[in-house]
Amino acid sequence: MSERKQILVTPEEMEEQRQYIAELRTRIEGKGLKYHIVTYGCQMNVHDSEKLAGMLHEIGYAETGQMQEADLILFNTCCVRENAELRVYGNVGALRAYKQANPNSIIGVCGCMMQQPEISDYIRRSFPFVDLIFGTHNLYRFPCLLLQALDSNTTVVEILDSEGAVVEHVPTRRAKGVSAWVTIMYGCNNFCSYCIVPYVRGRERSRHREDILEEVQDLAEEGYKEITLLGQNVNSYGKDLDRQYLFHQLLRDINGVNGIERIRFTTSHPKDLSDELIETMAECKKVCRHLHLPIQSGSNRILKAMNRKYTRENYLQLVEKIKKAMPDISLTTDIIVGFPGESEEDFKDTLDIVEKVRYDSAFTFIYSPRRGTPAAKIKDEIPQEDKKERLARLNELVSSISHEKNKAYLGKNVEVLVEGPSKTKADVLTGRTGTNKTVNFKGDPELIGRFITLRIVEAHVFSLVGELLKDA
Ligand code: 5AD
Ligand code: SF4
Repeated sequence: MSERKQILVTPEEMEEQRQYIAELRTRIEGKGLKYHIVTYGCQMNVHDSEKLAGMLHEIGYAETGQMQEADLILFNTCCVRENAELRVYGNVGALRAYKQANPNSIIGVCGCMMQQPEISDYIRRSFPFVDLIFGTHNLYRFPCLLLQALDSNTTVVEILDSEGAVVEHVPTRRAKGVSAWVTIMYGCNNFCSYCIVPYVRGRERSRHREDILEEVQDLAEEGYKEITLLGQNVNSYGKDLDRQYLFHQLLRDINGVNGIERIRFTTSHPKDLSDELIETMAECKKVCRHLHLPIQSGSNRILKAMNRKYTRENYLQLVEKIKKAMPDISLTTDIIVGFPGESEEDFKDTLDIVEKVRYDSAFTFIYSPRRGTPAAKIKDEIPQEDKKERLARLNELVSSISHEKNKAYLGKNVEVLVEGPSKTKADVLTGRTGTNKTVNFKGDPELIGRFITLRIVEAHVFSLVGELLKDA
């Protein structure tokens, strides 16, 4: 077996972090300290927060949902669009009085935003009461940094500017439930012209097959039934490693893990979605019939300017192939409106592709210029009102198709994995179909964590309502 190319954090370094955890534990023991983490952005960030929570639990902190009663507050930030950044500034700024009233508390800001030097500098200068600033590449060093912050009167800042190592065995505290996230690769090599991710998350680094499989095995033993494999571009998993072991092979191996009943993954770049992957999805029973396949725009001109490396024709052919192999597949996507230079014609091409593909749902965004990306240098002449109006038209179309697709479920029996109580109604449970449809239904909480069959009786834009079968 050949060696992996990328850096690995050595067992000695991880041992060092474990020692910091032990030291911190002796310092905070018996004090009943609590932490609160605020997470912005994608599932990758949510999963990073699960790792921060895992380390904090090992140290001896307990979680609190109330920021005001926390002794340690962490903001795990996102910089994909400007509005997420603005919320971070607002929320961190709002803690000035809190810090004055609780001088022994610790406030930390970490994640993607901090990987941009001008932003971490801005946070340090504007909010001097922040105790700790760190980035995405050194998350595993959090115990060491926390120890420094507890002993320091000034802000502790540690940001590594090159991509981090692949770190294994970081304690993780997953949200309780039936479904778990597993990162299979970090970073992105694609440099879509609007996107900041490659600059803040670094180049693609795949985890080793053995480490992923061991984690999935452990999750199965802990009782998780469903896993979601995470990466900015999971379809290029393994291409940075020397050995010939790619995403479809990983999927097949995970499909063989006893106890795991459902496998999901996100995100897939259309240019890297191979025939082998389509074949594997179609053949592997546990791989869900759902594919998130960001299109971003339906106009070839804009796709080129976005550096997406496919055309609308390539994309439609791919969709045809996928639907042929799995007629029951549910397709979702990401779309950006108002990319610099997008004309009404370009936008109509986007509406047209949405009609052709008939997505089950879509995340839609107004283009947000990100400093340092090539697109930010293009003159952006589209008035904000026009962008908003395009977004509204797009959302209307996406919603009407989602609704129609959901209506096709009426009267059908579907299998769902019951995830927990519904967020909105007290006596209602929520489950999810393999096709990623949320189904709400009245049932005994004992059903949580089980696969059950429901008859669909109502179809809404974003969810379905089901009933337990009489003999269930
Ligand atoms: N402006 C708007 N949306 C963006 N995305 C990424 N960068 C930007 C940006 N600068 C969207 C893309 C991506 C999703 C995660 O966020 O649609 O797929
Ligand atoms: Fe950003 Fe493109 Fe990479 Fe996705 S594939 S993270 S949009 S650069």
